[in-house]
Amino acid sequence: MTNQKALIKITQLSKVYQNVNTGSNSKGLSQNPSEDKSSNNGKTQALNNINLTINQGDYLAIQGPSGGGKSTLLSIIGLLDNASSGDYYLSDVCVSKLSATQMAKVRNREIGFIFQDFNLIGDMTVSQNVELPLIYRGVKKAERKAKVAEVLKRVNMSERAEHLPNQLSGGQQQRVAVARALVGKPTLLLADEPTGNLDSTNGDSVMQLLSELNQQGVTICMVTHDSRYAHFAKNTLNLFDGKVVSNVSTNDEQISPKQAIPSAMILGA
Ligand SMILES: Nc1ncnc2c1ncn2[C@@H]1O[C@H](COP(=O)(O)OP(=O)(O)O)[C@@H](O)[C@H]1O
Ligand SMILES: [Mg+2]
Repeated sequence: MTNQKALIKITQLSKVYQNVNTGSNSKGLSQNPSEDKSSNNGKTQALNNINLTINQGDYLAIQGPSGGGKSTLLSIIGLLDNASSGDYYLSDVCVSKLSATQMAKVRNREIGFIFQDFNLIGDMTVSQNVELPLIYRGVKKAERKAKVAEVLKRVNMSERAEHLPNQLSGGQQQRVAVARALVGKPTLLLADEPTGNLDSTNGDSVMQLLSELNQQGVTICMVTHDSRYAHFAKNTLNLFDGKVVSNVSTNDEQISPKQAIPSAMILGA
């Protein structure tokens, strides 16, 4: 454990929103700006001095009550949003200091996203949805086709390659979204409430898939409100009012948070 390589290192990271009347995060991950508990003077402290390390191969679940800062943290880790202060290193690069264009490049290359509502494009087939990130990257057609076929096989959706999203169950749509997130071989897979819109059978199958991917070496960071699903992860980070209140190894729950920090460390919160 101790010789694992840190993929993400976040130190003293804070996020303060200047409240405006729109009430929604432009990037779409934060869904409940009305439920803020630390808002004053038109400002909301969504994250307060977060220290966190995620190692390669980890599977971290982020949990906590609504409004605690989970989506904000995931947006910052996914380079969809900037922190107000603190440092964020991804693969030893201080990404918090990059320009917006450089950030977009790193995001495109290193990060795959899965959202609660799948975000598939309705008039494109499964194959076309999964192919899209490769088109953005300028990958040649033959290589795209091969990669799409490979990743659809991996999520067990090859037979549905020519279907449209509305011809699939929610669980199948989320598997396609996982394929789209994985097709570019990202360093990190981020998921915000990936089972939030699924019944328990479909939710279980998506969680099973994420576990398998993690066993194959994919690093995963997932926000979930469902503690049953947090148990699929190797570590669970609990956020409350923008602060880390615990960070425990899921397999080692008898150990107190301060001792059980093999990979995602509390550095002083
Ligand atoms: N765009 C925004 N503008 C202002 N406040 C926001 C915005 N997005 C989130 N917040 C506030 O930041 C806090 C954390 O929100 P969020 O990260 O969405 O929490 P969670 O995902 O844990 O429910 C909440 O108090 C929320 O109201
Ligand atoms: Mg959220």
